[in-house]
Amino acid sequence: MAAQRFIWGIAGTCCRCWGGVDAVVTDPPYGIGESAGKAKTRTSGLTSKVRNAQIYRQNYGDDSWDDKPIDDDLIAAVRAAGKWQIIFGGNYYTLPPTKCWLVWDKLNGETDFADCELAWTNLQKAVRRITYLWNGCMRANGETRDGHPTQKPIGVMKWCIGHLPDTAATILDPFMGSGTTGVAAVQMGRNFIGVEREERYFDIACRRIEQAQRQGDLFIAATA
Ligand SMILES: C[S@@+](CC[C@H](N)C(=O)[O-])C[C@H]1O[C@@H](n2cnc3c(N)ncnc32)[C@H](O)[C@@H]1O
Repeated sequence: MAAQRFIWGIAGTCCRCWGGVDAVVTDPPYGIGESAGKAKTRTSGLTSKVRNAQIYRQNYGDDSWDDKPIDDDLIAAVRAAGKWQIIFGGNYYTLPPTKCWLVWDKLNGETDFADCELAWTNLQKAVRRITYLWNGCMRANGETRDGHPTQKPIGVMKWCIGHLPDTAATILDPFMGSGTTGVAAVQMGRNFIGVEREERYFDIACRRIEQAQRQGDLFIAATA
C-alpha cells in the first residue's frame, strides 16, 4: 500500500522536512491574487453568452498567500528536492529553458480567464497538452470542488503524474492546498508527501487524500 505523509507548515528554503523524493509535482501561488477574490471582479469580462446567467462565487475568505509569486530561491529549493519536477505556473517563475511544458487547456469559453495553464517540467519529452473542462460549475468527469479557490482537477494531476517515469514512486507537493496532487498520487499507487501552511486547506487535503486511500483499499479488497 502506498504511504502518505502530511505536514501542516511552511515550506521554506531551509526546510528539510520533505527529504529527498523522486518527483516534485506542485502548484505554487502564482501571485495573481485569485485567493483574495480577484475572480469576483472578472464577471465584467464575461460575454453576452453568459451575461444573463447568475454567477455564484464561493467566498474563500481574504487570503494573502497569492499576492505575489513565491521567491525564486524557494522554487530552487523545491526543485532540488526531487529528481523529476513538474511546476504549475512555470511561466510566472525564473526557470531554465525546457523542451517539455505540460499544457492544460481548460476549455474556458469566452471569459477573460487564461485559456490554458502551463506546467514547467524537466522531463525529456515533447510538449504535451490536455483538454479538460474546468469552467465555473462545468467540470469534466463531474469533478467536485472542495473549498479551495485555485483547486486543480484530479484528472489533470493524474495526467501529469502519468508523464513521470514509473520509477517515480514518491511524489512531493510542498504547496498542496486542498490535496489534489495527493489524491491523484494515491489513485496512481504512488507515495505522497504534502505540505500546506493554511490549516483549513490542510484539513481538506487530509480528508480528501485519506478518502482516496480508503477507496483504493476497498477496490483492492473487492478484487482480491
Ligand atoms: C495554488 S494553491 C494549491 C492548490 C492545489 N493545487 C489544489 O488543487 O488545491 C497554493 C497553496 O500553497 C499554500 N502555500 C503558500 N505558501 C506556502 C508555503 N510557504 N508553505 C506551504 N504552503 C504554502 C497556500 O496556502 C495554497 O493553499
